Formats: sequence, C-alpha cells, structure tokens
Amino acid sequence: MDSSSLAAMNVTLRGKTRHFRTVSFDAKKNAVRLVEQRLLPHEFRVVSVADHRATAGAIRDMVVRGAGAIGATAAYGLAQGAREFTGTSPAKFERHVDRVFARLKDARPTAVDPVNAMLGVRAAMANGEDIAARQELALRAAEAFAEADVRHCAELGEHGAPLIREGSRVLTHCNAGWLAFVDVGTATAPLYAAHAAGRRFHVFCDETRPRCQGASLTAWELAQQGISHQVIADNAAGHLMQRGEIDLVIVGSDRVLGRTGDVANKIGTYTKAILARHHRIPFYVAIPLSTIDWNLRAGTDIPIEERSESEVLGAWGIDGRGHRVRVQVANPTSGARNPGFDVTPAALVTGIVTPVGILRPRELWRRRSELGGPAK
Ligand code: MRU
Repeated sequence: MDSSSLAAMNVTLRGKTRHFRTVSFDAKKNAVRLVEQRLLPHEFRVVSVADHRATAGAIRDMVVRGAGAIGATAAYGLAQGAREFTGTSPAKFERHVDRVFARLKDARPTAVDPVNAMLGVRAAMANGEDIAARQELALRAAEAFAEADVRHCAELGEHGAPLIREGSRVLTHCNAGWLAFVDVGTATAPLYAAHAAGRRFHVFCDETRPRCQGASLTAWELAQQGISHQVIADNAAGHLMQRGEIDLVIVGSDRVLGRTGDVANKIGTYTKAILARHHRIPFYVAIPLSTIDWNLRAGTDIPIEERSESEVLGAWGIDGRGHRVRVQVANPTSGARNPGFDVTPAALVTGIVTPVGILRPRELWRRRSELGGPAK
C-alpha cells in the first residue's frame, strides 16, 4: 500500500495532504511513533515513545487503540525493549524479553492481536545466534507484522467492496478504520475500496459510548476520506433499522475465535447484531489474520476488559477555547459499570471478511491452513 492509495491514511491539515501511519518505528532513536488518538478529532499529533515501559503505558492509556494498531505497537514495543538490553548474558537477555512481553501483553486484555504479533516477533528472534542478531531480528519481525497488517487490510477492501452497493446505507460501530490499524482499517476497507471505485453510499457511525470512538475517530476518518456519513446516538440504530434505513452492518473485531466464529468487539456490538438479525439485515465482521484466536473454545472464555467508571460517568471534549476538558455527566454520587467489549455469537454473524475472502463464521476452522491456523 503506497501513500498515493485512496484507501490509505491521507490526512489533510491546513490544506496539505500527507500520508501517515498510525504506528511506525524510529530505529535510530529506538522509539515507537504513534498518532495520539486521545486528541482527535480536535488535534492531530504524532508522538514519539522513548522506551518499552512508556509504549506499554501508551497502549494502556489509549494513546493508541484498536486491535491491529495495538498489535503493531506491541510488536515494535517488544523489539524496542529487546534493543534496550545492553548486557552480554543470553540468559539475562531472555528473562528481560519475557518481562517486556508480559508488560506489553498486560496493557490491554481483550484484543488478541498484541499477543499474536509478539509471538511472531519471539519466533523470529529464536533464529538469531547472539543477542545482537536477536535484537535485529526482533525489529525486522515487528516491521513485517506492520506490513502484513496493511496488506491484510487492503485485501479486506478487495473482498469486501462488493458488499457496498450504489446507494447502500451502512452502519458501523466504534472505530475499525485506519486509526485502529497501521493503515487502511478493517470495517472501513470495503467502504474505502467502494468509494475509490466511484460508488456512492452513506455511513451511520454509532457514537460508541463511553469513549465515543465512532463520533470522534470514525467520523473524522470518513470526513478525511470524503465519505457521506452521520453520527448517530448508540440507541438510534434500532429505530433506523425498523424504518428500513440501514442495509448492512459492518464492524471490526478485537478477537474472533477460530474454532467457533464468535466475535469480541466494542461494547454494544452484540446489541446491534441482535437488532440486525431481527430486521434481517446482513451483519459482517472484517478482520486481519492477527485477530484470530485459535486456542479458546468458547466466546465466554474471552477476557473482557473492565474500564474506569469515570468513562461512563462523564465525557471528554473541547471547550469554547479549544481546550480539552472532561465534564461530569452523571449524578456525582453514583458509581458505574464499564465493560469495554462484548461477544457476538457466531450464529448472529452473516459473514467474516478475511484476507482470503468472505467466510461463514464456522468456515474459519475448516479453512485454518489458509488462515495461518494450527494443524489440529
Ligand atoms: O477500546 P478500543 O478503541 O481499542 O477498541 C477497539 C476497537 O476499536 C473496536 O472494538 C473495533 O471495532 C475493533 S478494533 C479494529
């Protein structure tokens, strides 16, 4: 995917358009570079993260978020941590890498992409004969993960574009766009490919409380891409479906079980899948290969991140002077419950858009050899 691609992250700021990646690596400074997503859509800034502890912090605090983007950040973070080691003992080096791995893995629990990405980096490192070779291989493997992420997303665009017809009205939830990956995105890839092919359609972005990734990130991306869209309150989708105003739902995922096809995604996805089934509206999930978990056997086994009460009780935005502020919305003496994700059972999913084509959820296991899955 080169910077001239229409589906890539081309950001226009003060009249100038430039290609960015959500996540990249500065090898000279051993720093991870991230688009600071907490500031969007009000400010676009790229930050440099100086060591692996800070990289884990950036994942935890959601400077970077979205399954593929935190996968690439963890892969780079592992390489960054490996390259921080200055000793000569191979055993100490291995223990250091184990600690870096654990720190990055623990930053966020639901998405499987960071674990898959770091396992790939570790496997590549095992081929190095000494510490220096392993450090070098770690960085190469992290770069390879990032490239594969971009390639897979572009392939989702090719396979998924026919789902988006002239005049389609599409609902999406949260942000599974270029900001959630290294570039291009998953749920957005078919939209961007259809748009590049000249089709006109309209997207409804669920605002996606409590952090509002739909209202802030997806809406900003679609505006940057010049795609017709509107933000809707999370509770509005049922009404629009009942009135025949939504033709298709397409979302991303943080973990899809290869054995069952169950889909973990941002809280509220399950509700939309139930609504879509009730109204006979197709419900698609778009994923790169790093989002498949081949180990877990049931959707109920997926760890669901419980986040801070303050996200539910208040909201972030900018004030009249452009300053970023949090406002308290809820009754100040009330508490809140804040599960970050939910699991949509495979039975509610029409199809999974993968880099090898659109599959029924149960086909993932049968086609596992093409999807990078295990032999058994
Ligand atoms: O909490 P986030 O913003 O990291 O959540 C991840 C997501 O953006 C969504 O669940 C998304 O739909 C899948 S990630 C591509």
